[in-house]
Amino acid sequence: MNIPLILGIETSCDDTGAAILRGNKVLSNVTSVQLIHEKHGGVVPELAGRAHMENISEVVQSATQQAKVALEEIDAIAFTQGPGLQVSLVVGASFAKGLAMALGKPLIAVNHMKAHILSHFIEEEGMKAPSFPFLCLTVSGGHTQLVVVRSPLSMEIIGKTIDDAAGEAFDKTAKMLGFPYPGGPYIDLHAKNGNPKAFSFAKPKIDELDFSFSGFKTSVLYMLKKNKDNHVTFIEDNLPDLCASIQEGITEILLEKLKKAQLLTGIKELALSGGVSINSGLRHKIRNWVDENPGLNAYFTPGKYCSDNAAMIAMAGQLMYREGVISNQSVAANARLPW
Ligand code: KG4
Ligand code: ZN
Repeated sequence: MNIPLILGIETSCDDTGAAILRGNKVLSNVTSVQLIHEKHGGVVPELAGRAHMENISEVVQSATQQAKVALEEIDAIAFTQGPGLQVSLVVGASFAKGLAMALGKPLIAVNHMKAHILSHFIEEEGMKAPSFPFLCLTVSGGHTQLVVVRSPLSMEIIGKTIDDAAGEAFDKTAKMLGFPYPGGPYIDLHAKNGNPKAFSFAKPKIDELDFSFSGFKTSVLYMLKKNKDNHVTFIEDNLPDLCASIQEGITEILLEKLKKAQLLTGIKELALSGGVSINSGLRHKIRNWVDENPGLNAYFTPGKYCSDNAAMIAMAGQLMYREGVISNQSVAANARLPW
């Protein structure tokens, strides 16, 4: 039997991506990162949409060239249907639909958040997939979710954020410290030289498995305001400690809920996905917890499959294709795509 070749296209936010997978193996994974948003302190939708339009043909072409595959050989085209920014999603969806029509190939509409989870099935040296059922903590710039994954097509959200996502908590507090967007990686970098117990910030008091970061964010802001007169010097003098303490606060909120969900479900296979799952403090905390609890297993993916990428879209496409889940040409980009 032929191993299917899937082209994946990702344009949910500010990165234009195309990847080709043969089975679970990545033949190419191309991402064009839009740096224009850095100076605006966040993603500007119109600029993102325009940049996707400018880049998409070239990105798909690079993916086929690097994979040494002709478009005609592709078995199906998977694309991000949502959730994300509508102006960005529309570009990828239109491109995928046009290509599928021109080539006479099946089209597969992929949920971006489910693809983050399914990135764990990419086969690569050093990567091991969790067994079903597993519990996945998905932490990105727009979402924070605890998901029970029973099979590639059966996933249940058991906890989510009621306000900001974990990535937003990193990015918004990083902005208060003067870092460009997205600030999460800067906090991680500077936290390495700081004391995580130097400052303490508010923790949410929610009993359920849901997350909240707005109180935490406000308490960081108040603390900086309290030192308003010497605001800049205060930040300059305490930057590593501030970063380490912010990282400690956010990752502690995440770990606490993951622990709670593990206890409630009894699931011992624990996976992490999404851009924030690159965070070294979060990985360290989860590794320590798992090491102290024999029987628990934690799974992380390499950084290139944590942040937005098209390989995870092609991976989700592969798993859907195997199950015969195909979309028709009337499928549309949907910024608020339901689970
Ligand atoms: O999954 P992703 O690439 O895009 C979305 O779907 O949102 O996640 C982006 C988020 C941003 O908020 C970014 O600041 C955060 O991931 N991030 C990090 C780190 N690297 C990326 N947050 C904390 N520490 C990091 N090392
Ligand atoms: Zn994402």
